Amino acid sequence: MIKVTDVAHARFTAPDLDVMETFLVDFGLTRSARTDDTLYMRGTDPDHHLHITHLADKPSFVGMAFQAASMEDLETLSKADGASAVEEIDEPGGGYRVRMTDPNGYQVETVFGIETVDPLPLINRFEPNFGSARSREGELVRLKKAPCQVKRLGHVVLNVPSCEIADKFYKEHFGFISSDECFTEDGTELAVAFNRCDKGKDFVDHHTLLTVRSQVRGLAHIAFEVEDINALYVGKDYLESKGYEHSWGVGRHTLGSQIFDYWFDPYGNRVEHWTDGDLLNVDNGTKVTPLSVALATQWGVTVADRRASLETDYDPLSSGS
Ligand SMILES: [Fe+2]
Repeated sequence: MIKVTDVAHARFTAPDLDVMETFLVDFGLTRSARTDDTLYMRGTDPDHHLHITHLADKPSFVGMAFQAASMEDLETLSKADGASAVEEIDEPGGGYRVRMTDPNGYQVETVFGIETVDPLPLINRFEPNFGSARSREGELVRLKKAPCQVKRLGHVVLNVPSCEIADKFYKEHFGFISSDECFTEDGTELAVAFNRCDKGKDFVDHHTLLTVRSQVRGLAHIAFEVEDINALYVGKDYLESKGYEHSWGVGRHTLGSQIFDYWFDPYGNRVEHWTDGDLLNVDNGTKVTPLSVALATQWGVTVADRRASLETDYDPLSSGS
C-alpha cells in the first residue's frame, strides 16, 4: 500500500473536442495541449493538465489519476494484484504511471513526474475587507466579466453500488483515510464515505475521493478548486450568460464546508466549482455523521430545494459533496 498525495486529473471521452473545449474554457480551464484526438486542459496552478478528453463516438468517464509521492511508490504499487508495470506516459507532460481498474470498472492511474508548467496570472483577485480585519485600502473592486478561473482538481465523487467494496479498494491501495462516514438509515451499510489523503501532520482537503451508494453506477461529479467566493459568483454569472445547464448551488456544504456551485458539461458530466473547504490532518481522525447532516447545507440551496424546483426525482445521493 502506498499513500497518494492528491488527485491529479480526470479522463473522459467525447464525440466533439471543440464542444468540450469551449465549455471547459467557459468553466475556467485553459488548453494545455491538444493532439488530433485528445484535449488536455489545465488550471492556474502548475499542474500540466487536470482534465483529459479523448475523441470517441460516445461520451464517457474513463477514470482518474492520483499523485504518487515518489517513483519508489509507483514501483511498490506495480506489484499489487491487477496493477500494470510502471509505464512511461506517452502524452503531453510525460511522466510515469501505474494503471489499475477499480471494482466499478474505472481506470485508476497513479502518476509521478508529469512536468509542471508556469502558473497563470489570476484575474478578479482582490483582498477582502472583513468587518473585523480590513486590509484593502485605496484599491477599488472592479471586476471583469469572465470565467471563474479553475486552480486545481480537488476531488472526484463516484456513485457505486457498494461503498464498502469501493472503500476497501481505495484504502488498501492508495492509503486514503475516512474524514466522515454516513450510514444508511438502518445503520447497516455505508451511504456516503468521504476519503482524504494521509499526509500525516500536513493538512489536506477534507475529501479527495468520495463514494456515494447509488443504484446507478457512474461519475457523480469532479470538483475544481477556485480562488474565492467572488470568483465563483463571477463564474456563475458567466456560465449563465452562455446558457449552460446549472445543477446545484450556490451553497455551503456541511461536511467539508466548501462553498459550491455545480454545472453540467455538454455531455452530462457534473462539474463543480468550490472554494474555502476544510483542511484536516491525521489528528482530525474519522467522524460518523448522520446522512441528513451530510446532505444539509449550512446556507444556500439545499438538495431538497433543488429537487422541488426541478420537479423531478432528483437523486440527492448522486449529488455528493
Ligand atoms: Fe464536491
